[in-house]
Amino acid sequence: MSTIIDVRTTYEAFANGADLSNLGEVEIYGWARTNRNSGQIGFIELHDGTAFKSIQVVYSNDTDNYDAVAHITTAAAVKVTGTLVMTPEMKQPFEIHAKTVELLGDVSEDYPLQKKRTSLEFLREIAYLRPRANTFQAVFRVRSVLAMAVHSFFQERGFVYVHTPEITGNDAEGAGSVFTISTEGTPHPYTDFFGTKASLTVSGQLHVEAFALAFKDVYTFGPTFRAEKSNTKRHASEFWMIEPEMAFTDLNGDMECIEACIKYCIRYVLEKCPDEMAFFSTWIEKGRMDQLNAVLNTPFTRMEYTDGIKLLQEAVKNGHKFDYNKIEWGMDLQSEHERYLTEEVVKGPTFLINYPKEIKAFYMRENDDGKTVAACDLLVPGEGEIVGGSQREERYDILKAKMDKLGNTQGLEWYLNLRKYGGCKHAGFGIGFDRLLMYITGIDNIRDTEPYPRTSNALKY
Ligand code: 4AD
Ligand code: MG
Repeated sequence: MSTIIDVRTTYEAFANGADLSNLGEVEIYGWARTNRNSGQIGFIELHDGTAFKSIQVVYSNDTDNYDAVAHITTAAAVKVTGTLVMTPEMKQPFEIHAKTVELLGDVSEDYPLQKKRTSLEFLREIAYLRPRANTFQAVFRVRSVLAMAVHSFFQERGFVYVHTPEITGNDAEGAGSVFTISTEGTPHPYTDFFGTKASLTVSGQLHVEAFALAFKDVYTFGPTFRAEKSNTKRHASEFWMIEPEMAFTDLNGDMECIEACIKYCIRYVLEKCPDEMAFFSTWIEKGRMDQLNAVLNTPFTRMEYTDGIKLLQEAVKNGHKFDYNKIEWGMDLQSEHERYLTEEVVKGPTFLINYPKEIKAFYMRENDDGKTVAACDLLVPGEGEIVGGSQREERYDILKAKMDKLGNTQGLEWYLNLRKYGGCKHAGFGIGFDRLLMYITGIDNIRDTEPYPRTSNALKY
């Protein structure tokens, strides 16, 4: 009888001081990363997917079918039996001395993913194989852990998780970039499946606001769809968004929650994924871990939009060249402007607050100056905006007037009613989950943070 082991639990047991030297015969399943040998002795780097680390399998003349084992190639699925041997003088604390290495799945010669370093662009073309590559082992494990971090942050604080619908009749952001759903060749608003126009959601916010007015603190966390044609490193057509909403909370409370959440997530990932984070810090963005640790120890800066504009104008005056160089109050900031403020001026995460009302969504609360709304975007170095939030307009008359003017009242009467039926001050925000993952890992293209990225003209898998 042999004991079935895997890399993760074996390393965990080792770290907890367990004696692994007398397990008897062990059995492990995985894939060969490399296989090298010299006559008498050979080494397979076995990766079993349970951890970022691999385990070394040593085979020799004592191993059954030495010659066959020596011919096992990269990516082959294997079953190994043998004994776990402690190697305190080596880089890896233990290895397996193989009795048998059984080939479970051979690899044909056209296997495209060889051991040598391959570019992220090339790996994107083979999205079904890239989870095997080191970088994506690290990205997708961190993605999984980060999702857990998000839930654990909100659940610890008593927030109720709400599954807002993916199919909706409204364009929450009023940005018009929706994917229409239809069962007919040409969507028709009356005869089509829902008997009304339907689309994939661009935000769960409006739906979740109703829940905040019943549960106080709530959040949604799910896929979001935007038909933006912008072909950038930070936009995907399908991405995940975390949208919390808090009753009896203003813009300050909103920003406190955002900051606490981002820091919690960073801390959680640094603690749970030390190997992956060390990898990013070495291969993807030098010193990423140190930078994140610095972020944990610094309060996020808060800057008025109006002051941001002044700083950008000064920069232009001093010779700084932006692609879009005409800086004036009222403009929507481009990512180059956001990045200048967070990278060059503040050199750290920055809340830009109180934006002109014309460039922000209809539901944001109008400030007393009549010109701005109580909005906050969180900008981070390397990326620009990763979070957008606001205090919501809770005053029925003001909101109705705005919506009437925009022409989006119809179908959203229920949203307005929330202001009549025990409405109250409330605020919320949306974190782009994929952008947060980019920020933590240092990966600079959103396509490399999603298992199967969806962007315009790209739907291969
Ligand atoms: O700023 P946005 O559009 O805000 C909302 O949707 C609000 N309803 C949020 C709220 O207050 N509940 O989007 C929020 C975040 C952005 O800051 C960005 O990180 C991300 O979602 N995001 C995208 N991420 C990837 N690809 C895209 N096309 C994205 N569009 C927005
Ligand atoms: Mg935004």
